[in-house]
Amino acid sequence: MKQTKENTPDSGIVQWESPSNIALVKYWGKSDIQIPKNPSISFTLQEAKTITRLEWKRKNTSRSQVEFDFLFHGNEKPEFIPKLEVFFSRIIEQMPFLKNYHLRISSENTFPHSSGIASSASAMSALAATLVDMEMIVNPSSKTDQEDFRIYASEISRLGSGSACRSFYPEAAIWGQSSFSGTSDRYAIGLGDHLHPEFHGYRDAILLIEQSPKAVTSTAGHHLMEENPYASVRFSQAQENIDRLLVILKKGDLEEFVKLVEAEAMTLHALMMTSDPGYILLHPRTLEVIQHLHAFRKDTRIPVCFTLDAGPNVHLLYPEKYTIEVEDFIKNELIQFCQDRQWISDRMGEGTKKLSSSTK
Ligand code: PMV
Repeated sequence: MKQTKENTPDSGIVQWESPSNIALVKYWGKSDIQIPKNPSISFTLQEAKTITRLEWKRKNTSRSQVEFDFLFHGNEKPEFIPKLEVFFSRIIEQMPFLKNYHLRISSENTFPHSSGIASSASAMSALAATLVDMEMIVNPSSKTDQEDFRIYASEISRLGSGSACRSFYPEAAIWGQSSFSGTSDRYAIGLGDHLHPEFHGYRDAILLIEQSPKAVTSTAGHHLMEENPYASVRFSQAQENIDRLLVILKKGDLEEFVKLVEAEAMTLHALMMTSDPGYILLHPRTLEVIQHLHAFRKDTRIPVCFTLDAGPNVHLLYPEKYTIEVEDFIKNELIQFCQDRQWISDRMGEGTKKLSSSTK
C-alpha cells in the first residue's frame, strides 16, 4: 500500500520490555560505530529489564533532528539526553520518518541504573524495539517478519549501545563475525537450538556489591583498548574462546564452561587494569565473593561460576537444578558482601517482548 498521510495514524503508543544480558565471551574494544573488535556470546536475562513506552504525534514541520522528551521513572533526566541525541543522530538515516513526529519516551528499569548491570543493554534494546514497531505502524510496507524485526531492531539498538543488540533473543545470542553461521558485526542473532539442555533455564544470581555510578564509562573503556598493549592478543583469544564456547554449549560441558567463563571475566578486568590510564572497577568485596565461591564449588562440586561486567557486581551462573543450594549459600555466606544485602535472583529469559500498542 502506498504510504500517505491519510492512511496512517497521526499518533500512537507502543510499549515494549527488554531484558539485560550477561556476556560470557566479552565485547571489549570497538571501532566506530559500535563495530566490535571481537565477537561475543551472552545469556539473555529475565528479571533485570527495562520497560519503555513510546508515544508519537505527527508534526506539521519536519526538522533535521529528532524531537523527543524523555522520562525515566516519571522524571525528566537531563543527563540521559546527550546519549539519546547521539543515538538519534546515528539512526536518522535508517529511520528518516522520525523527523515527522514528536516522540515522548518513558522508561523504567527493574534494577538500579549504572550499578554495573548492563542498563544500557536493556534500555537501548527496549527503545529500539519501540522505534521499529512504530515504523511498522506508520509505514506498514516496512519489515514485518518476526526474525527480520529482531535483526533490524538489533542493528538499531547497537547504534545506542553495542551489548544491547544481544538482548532480543531467547536464552542466548551471538554478535560479531565468527565461525558461527549467520553472524554479523552489525547485529546479533540467537543461538537457537545450539544450546544443550544442560543450559536451559540457567540461573544468574546478580550480587549487587556496590551501586554507585561507575568511575569509567564503558565508552571510555572501549576506547582505551585502542592503545592497550595486549589488544591484538585479546582479540584473537576472544575468537578462539567463541569457538571453544560454541562447542561447550553444544555438548553441555559444564566443567569447561566454568573455566572459560571465569577466565573471560578476569581477562576483561585485566584489560582495564593494563590500559593507560589503568583503572580498577573491582571492589574488595567482589574478591571476597569470588574466594567464597571457589571454596563453595570445591566443597560441593556444584558447577557454579562467576562472571563480571564492567563493574564490581558479581553474576553467579549455575544450572537450574542447584537453585536451592546456591540461593542458600548466597543467603548464608555471600549476602554480607552485597550493598544493603541486595541481590537479584535472575535466570535465562525469552528476550524482548511487546506489551501493548494503540493508535489514533
Ligand atoms: O555495550 P557497552 O558499550 O556498554 O559495552 C558492554 C561491555 C561489557 O558489558 C563489559 C561486555 C559485554 O560484552 O557485554
